Amino acid sequence: MALNEAKAPVGRDPQANNSATKASMQRRDTWWIQPGLTFIVFTAFIVFASWRTFENAYFESGPYLSPFYSPRIVTEWMVFGKHFSPALFILPFPLLFRATCYYYRKAYYRAFFWDPPACAVTEVAPRKHYTGEREFPFVLQNLHRYAFYAAVVILAILWWDTLLAFNFGTPGHFVFGVHVGTLVFAANIVFLSMYTFSCHSWRHLSGGCANCFSCSSTNKVRHSVWQKVTHLNENHALWAWMSLFSVALTDLYVRSLATGLIHDIKIF
Ligand code: FES
Repeated sequence: MALNEAKAPVGRDPQANNSATKASMQRRDTWWIQPGLTFIVFTAFIVFASWRTFENAYFESGPYLSPFYSPRIVTEWMVFGKHFSPALFILPFPLLFRATCYYYRKAYYRAFFWDPPACAVTEVAPRKHYTGEREFPFVLQNLHRYAFYAAVVILAILWWDTLLAFNFGTPGHFVFGVHVGTLVFAANIVFLSMYTFSCHSWRHLSGGCANCFSCSSTNKVRHSVWQKVTHLNENHALWAWMSLFSVALTDLYVRSLATGLIHDIKIF
């Protein structure tokens, strides 16, 4: 993706600002619920993910490996390695993917910056000079395409972990089984896949920069992929939330098993 793929507004129209001010005074609905809930859930996730990242314990149990600590990285051999949680080497990639996501940008700009917090509601502190995402640090949001590549690699690793969640034998001796944890991992990987492959960057990659979809067999395939991604993309916000919850709950499930708080119930 070119660095300016995500177009930023060039400036603010004072007239539009005045209209927004008038409109914000007319809104009588509960517009604040959405940014308020977003603020609470994002804050809770950040606190939980930070705690788990630095805890550096209870991330493995039976065939399960927490998604926060996958792939398994051994840090003991590194200088000061035993003081570093392996999650510190992994989480920057999914974090960058989510932080630069087009949907999450809208959500956290509204929830944390209140700039503005909702349609037809003015900013808390209106600015004269508005540069959108054209200047540092927000210009870095354009790294999203590259974060997508990293997210696909991480997703492939998490698919492997999910397959291992069906193995209740010893290393090298596969014994198929399904426990509650297997279902937790399966649900998580489905939500993460839906989120990743409903990404706007992936939609642009699959169908963008093509002048004629019917002119070659390659472009016909691209058109077919683009149509499916477009269908997924319509619910991108839903997949963003579902996958956020599922990844946190999967980690929590593994931690609860590892600490002996719960037992993994066998289904068959
Ligand atoms: Fe949300 Fe790419 S736009 S993950």
